Amino acid sequence: MNDKNAIGVFDSGYGGLTVFKAIAEKLPEYNYIYFGDNARSPYGDHSFETVYHYTLDCVEWLFEQGCPLVILACNTASAKALRSIQQNVLPYNYPNRRVLGVIRPTAEVVGQYTETGKIGVMGTRGTVNSESYLMEINKFFPEIEVHQQSCPMWVPLVENNEHLAPGADYFVKKYIDQLLEKNDQIDCVLLACTHYPLLIPKINNVVPNSIRVLGQGEIVADSLKDYLERHPEMTRQLELASKKAFYTSGDPKTFDEHASVFFGADIASMHVDLTKGK
Ligand code: DGL
Repeated sequence: MNDKNAIGVFDSGYGGLTVFKAIAEKLPEYNYIYFGDNARSPYGDHSFETVYHYTLDCVEWLFEQGCPLVILACNTASAKALRSIQQNVLPYNYPNRRVLGVIRPTAEVVGQYTETGKIGVMGTRGTVNSESYLMEINKFFPEIEVHQQSCPMWVPLVENNEHLAPGADYFVKKYIDQLLEKNDQIDCVLLACTHYPLLIPKINNVVPNSIRVLGQGEIVADSLKDYLERHPEMTRQLELASKKAFYTSGDPKTFDEHASVFFGADIASMHVDLTKGK
């Protein structure tokens, strides 16, 4: 398959598929390459330097495949690596390529989903400690109070395909309870990690009906559509053949089994060894 001129979609593992699914539904005409760095996932507890280097490896690999545009469908990478890549790498090494994240488009609209003005943000330790959501939401909705909760066990549950098993209930309840203890007026819980929507059936069992649980798939897909409409110089470079290719740094057979369930369609991925040539 000719993957040239595809939009690259990157995540540390399976989580980005929740965003990719929404993007592919909204913009089915483009070619896409999804890359999951499953061999090095989760990223959530790694240092800034490590997340930056891992993310840059994956972005550069997607550039090598011919992607002029890469979406970091990962909050941890968006929080810890995006700005450095945009400011220190692209202008010097890839002036015509673009990398976009998921935090800003989410922060731009999240205020529309609360009436009490109190939002809960659930993310990895990396995302929470970066305080990116506090800063970005404050830019667009300075009157909104944001309460954060890190959920370090949630990504491992998803990566190990244990997210719907009975054992997941304990950790789902634990972090939701911890968040809601911070403020009893929270009426919108943002799932600020692209893995978390896979836990929604369990999250809905614990979160009161009065609270809205918000994933990022639709938000990021809408924002990408808007970006492409505003940037004809980018759309001109993208091929319209509705092709999708999947790559993983982990085991492709395991990836296909899990990812097909998450993505809702059969997937045949290929393995990439990012250590080659290093
Ligand atoms: N999907 C990534 C995110 O949105 C998970 C990060 C991880 O690998 O821990 O943050």
